[in-house]
Amino acid sequence: MAAERLTGAALEAELDRLLGEGSAFQPSEDFKASALISDTGIWDAAEADPVGFWEEQAGALDWNTRWTTGLDDSNPPFYKWFDGGTLNASHNCVDRHVEAGLGERVAYHWHGEDGSTQTITYADLHRDVQRAANALKDLGVKAGDVVGIYLPMIPEVVVAMLACARIGAPHNVVFGGFSPQAVVERMEVSDAKVLITASAARRKGKTAEVKQQVDDEIASRAEGLPALDTILVVRHADGDAPMTEGRDVWWHESLAAADPVCPAEAFPADHPLFILYSSGSTAKPKGILHGTGGYLTGVAWTHLNVFDLKPETDVWWCSADVGWITGHSYIVYGPLMNAATSVMYEGAPDYPHTAIWWELVEKYKATIFYTAPTAIRACMKWGAEEPAKHDLSSLRLLGSVGEPINPKAWLWYHHVIGGSKCPIVDTWWQTETGHILISPLPGVANAKPGSAGRPLPGVLAEVVDEAEGKEVERGNQGLLVLRRPWPGMLKTLYRDDDRFIETYFSRFGNDTYLVGDAARQDPDGDMWVIGRIDDVVNVSGHRLSTAEVESAIVAHPAVAEAAVIGQSDEQSGQAICAFVTLEGSHETTDAVMAEINEAVAERIGKFARPKRIIWSDDLPKTRSGKIMRRLLRDIAEGRALGDVTTLRDPAVMAELQKHVAARASEED
Ligand code: WTA
Repeated sequence: MAAERLTGAALEAELDRLLGEGSAFQPSEDFKASALISDTGIWDAAEADPVGFWEEQAGALDWNTRWTTGLDDSNPPFYKWFDGGTLNASHNCVDRHVEAGLGERVAYHWHGEDGSTQTITYADLHRDVQRAANALKDLGVKAGDVVGIYLPMIPEVVVAMLACARIGAPHNVVFGGFSPQAVVERMEVSDAKVLITASAARRKGKTAEVKQQVDDEIASRAEGLPALDTILVVRHADGDAPMTEGRDVWWHESLAAADPVCPAEAFPADHPLFILYSSGSTAKPKGILHGTGGYLTGVAWTHLNVFDLKPETDVWWCSADVGWITGHSYIVYGPLMNAATSVMYEGAPDYPHTAIWWELVEKYKATIFYTAPTAIRACMKWGAEEPAKHDLSSLRLLGSVGEPINPKAWLWYHHVIGGSKCPIVDTWWQTETGHILISPLPGVANAKPGSAGRPLPGVLAEVVDEAEGKEVERGNQGLLVLRRPWPGMLKTLYRDDDRFIETYFSRFGNDTYLVGDAARQDPDGDMWVIGRIDDVVNVSGHRLSTAEVESAIVAHPAVAEAAVIGQSDEQSGQAICAFVTLEGSHETTDAVMAEINEAVAERIGKFARPKRIIWSDDLPKTRSGKIMRRLLRDIAEGRALGDVTTLRDPAVMAELQKHVAARASEED
């Protein structure tokens, strides 16, 4: 029986007690008895033959031609999984299930922000994906051509992705929260031939005129977008849209006109499935390129086993947005390859009210729920009374992703949402890794709040020292690295092999992938991921580069200089804090601050706006002129300052401290 769910002061007291105990959590006997993996022997088996282990998992997919080589590692770090094999991703997500008689199974219970609903079966997907694939072909899209997708969380986004996969056209999905400027830039750098977008999007009861905004952005460029032939427009949110003759086509019209039959063509395992731009250490986003056979194998296996999925009975819900890797792997490809039934929600967790997620768990009887720590912390703020309004007893497993989860949020999630009976899997991975690599397996884990558990079977993750890349003693902090290729590993950075090698392999050589996170492995082998070691900030689980935000800020004409850091934040994990110096003649007014915020929203998206802007007369720099962000972080977090002797002008720090204190008192 589930324990009674506490709220208010009783809940606080219970969480404090559990925090004090520092306990670990085992699955219940019931959970274990029916778990897909309930034996730790799988680690030894995978370790004995890692490539063989993944070959066995690849066998769960439909291949047109079986591979000849499990892993071609003759040219590291360019690895080729399942070389010689051919397959089609959309066939594996849809056709084979329909052929197996599962056409009537629900793929998505879609729930709109306005309360409207759609039930989409595998047969529905089969019909729509074929038409959409033919529509793309009719527009001249061929295998290898890039198709951009900028859509809200609506069923068409899944259809669009699978249609691209069906014809071998890599999709380049841009998260709906990015600004049109960021979208157009990503289309430009990937030479997208077609962009699929929506007339409008719903944003918490308001309507954003997405197509108009995209048009304006393209028109503002002298050369427009030379490679872009067509904009395919999904009509949504009752939105009409300006349509440019000869360039713009309505999605519904082109699907209606398309041939209903589009056979799935087989592509080599290594064929690019998608590009997803992510933030790195510089202002230029990285085009992370994923292949097909390896990616699908890793995603399918982890979705099944990390979440102990029983496709016949489970109702899966990943609350991410499809525009991020979590959405690609665990809203689209993973669940569909496993013939799962998912919930897909268009809106935000606080619209139309802060219990909407729990209302939907009850309505659709969701059994597995996967979200981010930042969302859990928001729910904590809204209070345990919100979920208490709904029957959450259908839930049997919970997941977390995107950033380290603080133990208190873990315990709250466990007690308030999981009724103290659901195991939690804290899953560590990245856009680059394609799928989960470190996570407890729920049927065997001894889960510790705050730890992502052991590397999955077949995965070789280590914590090493900075200087030589040697494994540090258990319990010590170091750099997280991956010592062995895994199937969902990125192929390269799109059109930039040099940056691929430089970013991930220049530190310790071509057989050691540098993750970019600091971590500690405890004596049991469980990983505690601490956070990024580079200039990447994780705001509410969204990856941002400090350089990207800085370049948006300095584009403002009044700004002379800016330095951006990630500051710890109770709510969002990290928050953007910007130190800004204005040109001599400009006053530091609220109006300028608002303009800077607006500039960031326009250049990147609203989610990247600084939480705090601190005016500064000067920034701490070394004698060679390099800004010392480490000192800015110390100052912003009120820590004792590290070594300031290398500064050109140590007095800058005292001045800055005054500004930070002034800002803090304004906020109080
Ligand atoms: C962080 C998201 C701690 C980490 C899937 C990583 C995590 C970055 C966890 C990748 C976790 C992700 N515990 N940190 N369970 N999951 N991270 O590419 O810093 O958006 O490098 O992929 O998020 O972010 P990305």
